[in-house]
Amino acid sequence: MALITFSSPEYKDKTVYAVAGSFTETVLKIAKTNKIPIQFSCGDGECGTCVVKVTQLGDKAPMGYHLEEKEKTVLLELGKITKSEMEDMIVNDLPSKWRLACQFIPRDEDVFVEY
Ligand code: FES
Repeated sequence: MALITFSSPEYKDKTVYAVAGSFTETVLKIAKTNKIPIQFSCGDGECGTCVVKVTQLGDKAPMGYHLEEKEKTVLLELGKITKSEMEDMIVNDLPSKWRLACQFIPRDEDVFVEY
């Protein structure tokens, strides 16, 4: 079970806590369920509207997440991640600090999600 903290500077309640219900729910779905207004458009990893900054919390060593090619492409196009950062993440099994909320399925790690 992951504890996901959502944070935005645009809202009075800046931080909302949500618990991942399964290993198939994306961060966007969890946000919608909890009425957290993360912007989105395509819902399919194509447009980049739902990009969020992710920070791993807790004592566990951070683990990499598998990113589909379309998510990698969008993050590179948005300029959130450079090619060398991407290669470093893949080689060293590190998590990306930028994710698409519609593609990001949290695991057993607590994360801080800025939108
Ligand atoms: Fe389009 Fe997530 S909503 S990439």
